[in-house]
Amino acid sequence: MAEFSWLIDPVYIVTIFFFIVGMQRMSHPLTARSGIVWAGAAMLIATLVTFITPDLTNLALIAIAIVIGGGFGYIAAKRVAMTDMPQMIALYNGMGGGAAAGISAAALLGTPSPATAAVAVVGGLIGAVSFSGSIIAFMKLQGWMRPRPITFPGQQVVNMAVLALALVSGILIILQPAWVPLSVSLYLPLFFVLSLGFGILMTLPIGGADMPVVISMYNAFTGLAVALDGFSFATPNYAMVIAGIIVGAAGSLLTLQMAKAMNRSIPNVLFGAFGATEEDNARIKGSMKPVEPDDVAVMLAYADSVIIAPGYGMAVAQAQQKVKELTDLLESKNIQVKFAIHPVAGRMPGHMNVLLAEAGVSYDKLFDRDEINPEFSGTDVVLVIGANDTVNPAAHRQGSPLFGMPILDVEQAKNVIVLKRGQGRGFAGIENDLFYRDNTRMLYGDAQETVAKLVQAVKKF
Ligand code: TAP
Repeated sequence: MAEFSWLIDPVYIVTIFFFIVGMQRMSHPLTARSGIVWAGAAMLIATLVTFITPDLTNLALIAIAIVIGGGFGYIAAKRVAMTDMPQMIALYNGMGGGAAAGISAAALLGTPSPATAAVAVVGGLIGAVSFSGSIIAFMKLQGWMRPRPITFPGQQVVNMAVLALALVSGILIILQPAWVPLSVSLYLPLFFVLSLGFGILMTLPIGGADMPVVISMYNAFTGLAVALDGFSFATPNYAMVIAGIIVGAAGSLLTLQMAKAMNRSIPNVLFGAFGATEEDNARIKGSMKPVEPDDVAVMLAYADSVIIAPGYGMAVAQAQQKVKELTDLLESKNIQVKFAIHPVAGRMPGHMNVLLAEAGVSYDKLFDRDEINPEFSGTDVVLVIGANDTVNPAAHRQGSPLFGMPILDVEQAKNVIVLKRGQGRGFAGIENDLFYRDNTRMLYGDAQETVAKLVQAVKKF
C-alpha cells in the first residue's frame, strides 16, 4: 500500500472541501441533513485513506477500535431520543477530546522536538479538559449527577491552582532534555491527571441550564485540540488540522450565539453558578387557574389570530404532528396561526425548527423572537406548548437569575393558554409568574394528548 501514499494529501484536500460544503449545508434546516452526509463522507474517506500511511503498524488494533467505536456510535445514534441529543453530543464530543489527548500523549511518549512537544502539550491540555468536562456535562444532563451547580468555598482558587500546576508540568515536559525518557518521567501522568481534574472542577459549578452552552464550548475545545494534534506528527496531518479548525470555529460561534440568546457572558456561564434560589421562587403569590379543552376550543374558534410558542415539553411529548393538525384546522377556519420560535427553546439549537419541519409546518409560519414579539399585544390567543423559561417574564425583573434573557413576551397577548403536565418548573428551576397572571389559563396534561383533545373540541365548531 505504501506506493499509494502520495495519494494521502490530495485525498485529504478533497475531504476538506467536503467538510466545508457539509458545514455550509448544515447552516440551513432544509439542507442540514445532506450537510451531515457530506461531512460524514469526508470523515469516512479521510479515515480510509489514512490506512495507506507508510509504516502504519497495529492495523488490526485500529480496525477493531473502529468497529467497536463505529458500532457503538451507530446503535446509540439510532436509539437516542431527540430530547437526549445534547448529552449524546456531550459524550461524543468528550470522546473526541479524549482521542486528541491520547494522540498528544503518544506524541510526547516519542522523542518530540521542543516545538512538537509544545504543540502536543497544548493539544493534550485542551483535549483532556474537554474529555473530563464533557463527561461531567453528560452525567448532569443524563441525571446521573445533580444538575444544580456544585460549589464550595475557595472553588475558583482551587481551580486556578490546578490549572497552574497543569501548565507548570506541561512546561516541564517541553523543557525536559531529550535524554530523559518521558515515558518514565513523573511529569507526563501528572500533567494529564491535573488537566483531567481541571476539566471536572471547571464543569462542577455550572448548572444544568447552562450545559448546552458548555457542551458547545467543549466542542470548540476538541476542535482546537485536534487541529494542534495535526501538527504533532512527523508530517503534519492537514485533514486533522483543517477539520479541527472548522469544528473549533463553528463550536466557538455556536457558544457565543447561545450565550447571547440567554443574555449571558461566557465568564458568567463558566463562573456564575447560575440557578434559582428558593427565595426567588417564594416571591410569587396567587394561584394557577386551570381550564378545560372545551373552553380553550371556544376561545380558539372565535379568535382571529393565534400564536403558538413551543418549548421543550412539545419535544418530550412528541406533540408536533398534533400541533400541525391543530394549525391546519384553525387555518381552515380562517384563523391566522403563527409560531414564535425562541432560539434556545428545547435543548439544542434549532430544536423547535427541526420538530416542526418534521411535522410539515412550513418555514414561513415560523418567526423568531424579534419578529414576533411586537405581535403578541394584538393577538387573541397564545398557546404556550411545553415552554417555560423562554416565556418567563422574570427575565424582565432585576435580581432574577433569568434577568436580561430575551424572552417571548407572550404575557402581552389577550389570552395565554399554557399546556403542561403539572406545576413543574422549567430547565432553570425558576418559578414562572406568567402562570399566575389574570390573562393566563393552565391546560394540564401531556402536550400530545391535550392538543389532540383541542383538535377534537375545535372540530365541533
Ligand atoms: P423548559 O424551560 O425546559 O420547560 C419545559 C416545560 O415543559 C416544563 O416546565 C414542563 O412542565 C413541560 N413539559 C415537560 N414534559 C411535558 C409534556 N410531556 N407535555 C407537556 N409539557 C411538558 O422549556 P423551554 O421554554 O423550551 O426552555 C428551554 C430551556 O433550556 C431554557 O432554560 C434554555 O436556556 C435551556 N437551554 C436551551 C438551549 C438550547 S440550544 N435549546 C441551550 C442552553 C440552555 P411540567 O413538568 O409541568 O409538564
